[in-house]
Amino acid sequence: MSTTELMATAEPLVRVEGVQRTYGRGAAAVHALEGVSFEVRPGELVAVVGRSGSGKTTLLNIVGGLDRPDEGRVEVAGREVSSLDERGLDALRRDVVAFVFQSFGLVPTLSAAENVGVPLRLRGAPVAERESRVRLLLDLVGLGDHADQRPGELSGGQQQRVAIARALAASPKLLIADEPTGQLDSETGLAVMALLRGVVEAEGMTALVATHDPTFMALADRVLRLEDGRLHDDTLISLA
Ligand SMILES: Nc1ncnc2c1ncn2[C@@H]1O[C@H](COP(=O)(O)OP(=O)(O)O)[C@@H](O)[C@H]1O
Ligand SMILES: [Mg+2]
Repeated sequence: MSTTELMATAEPLVRVEGVQRTYGRGAAAVHALEGVSFEVRPGELVAVVGRSGSGKTTLLNIVGGLDRPDEGRVEVAGREVSSLDERGLDALRRDVVAFVFQSFGLVPTLSAAENVGVPLRLRGAPVAERESRVRLLLDLVGLGDHADQRPGELSGGQQQRVAIARALAASPKLLIADEPTGQLDSETGLAVMALLRGVVEAEGMTALVATHDPTFMALADRVLRLEDGRLHDDTLISLA
């Protein structure tokens, strides 16, 4: 069976059904998401696009358990995210999903290697295992020679590569990236996106990536387009 056929038959890793999210109430209510439904199959890299304010961040946060829908259902790796309690959400964020943010979110006082090791510490991984995994990941993102530098001593593109390595550390099933190249110049941004594409494949991961960047849509398996909180399109971009 080919990879494409496997993907077509596998159970979805992410299932979003009729998700609704409204901020505020009455006349001031903002319908950030309305009736959003889609599925992501294992191994897919799905881009979420749409202009600023269209609901991308709200959607990603709800899928990753940082926020809750007012209505609807979200399932990730067989867990019903929308009904997890705080402990369940903590476990989800520790064991199943990992986030990459536009603002990198690295700990400024820790070295690149220490930042990458944080998720492994949270899991109580043995030191030797942690160190070899950190080394492998820093090599994977091309920063093997920068392990001891702190975020302030790295360029924006390098910091985002550290953040990607950190997100991969605990081998999450789902990588969620919210405009990961938003603070980078277009050339660096494209390199970071290409890296994301590569690591998702290398690690056999699934990814949901919000982006403004049209060039990234070509790197995605599929594009979900949000318009004013509604899913406009669910287009399969055929990969050559
Ligand atoms: N905490 C919040 N309180 C009130 N409104 C919010 C909040 N977060 C987002 N919104 C609104 O919800 C809509 C979707 O926002 P967001 O998901 O951040 O979109 P995007 O990431 O596509 O820019 C916007 O109209 C935004 O102003
Ligand atoms: Mg956003």
